[in-house]
Amino acid sequence: MTKNILILKGSPRQHGNSATLAERAADGAREAGAQVESIYLHELQILPCNACDLCTETAECVIEDDMTPLYPKLAAADAILLATPVYWFTYSAQLKLCIDRWYAFQGHRWQEVSHKPFGVILTYGDTDLETSGGINAIHTFETMCRFLRSEIVGVVHGSLSDPGDAAKHPELLQQAYALGQRLAQISP
Ligand SMILES: Cc1cc2nc3c(=O)[nH]c(=O)nc-3n(C[C@H](O)[C@H](O)[C@H](O)COP(=O)(O)O)c2cc1C
Repeated sequence: MTKNILILKGSPRQHGNSATLAERAADGAREAGAQVESIYLHELQILPCNACDLCTETAECVIEDDMTPLYPKLAAADAILLATPVYWFTYSAQLKLCIDRWYAFQGHRWQEVSHKPFGVILTYGDTDLETSGGINAIHTFETMCRFLRSEIVGVVHGSLSDPGDAAKHPELLQQAYALGQRLAQISP
């Protein structure tokens, strides 16, 4: 059966470093036979969760915005790849807005986002994972995955600044490609 891989791209730079690596991962996943959809979050209108808690009764979010069609895509995904730049020592606001809204998968609906393999792509301007704050994003994703009974099957990260830097790093492109293949192969 064809696997569905959903890629959430969290940078405002449509063709920036994390997006370039994400598209390489998409190539790897497609090569392994998966169907891939990449979502450029920055162009979507996703409001912050307003904590109305109505979803605790209905398991539906009352906010009607560009998150509405994303819920079924998340549920249908066999694996999810999160690609984000490090902003202020963690992941980007665009991705945070989206993930906060997963709160609406309440009660029995948690199953729709649980038990999925996750991949992570992180790019940062500083020299390494610690000083950049990328480590904070990874800790958050690990905690999130523990809660979702999911597993992070691979993290690709690199010190890259200007748009176009990722294209100069064949080792990172190769790691991203391999991560995409892995997500396609490991998916339930
Ligand atoms: C608003 C903003 C905040 C940033 N914060 C950090 C940071 O905390 N740590 C870091 O190492 N780099 C930081 N950077 C640099 C980006 O993470 C880096 O340029 C990254 O490669 C951009 O990826 P992208 O091309 O996918 O957007 C920041 C950049 C911007 C624009």
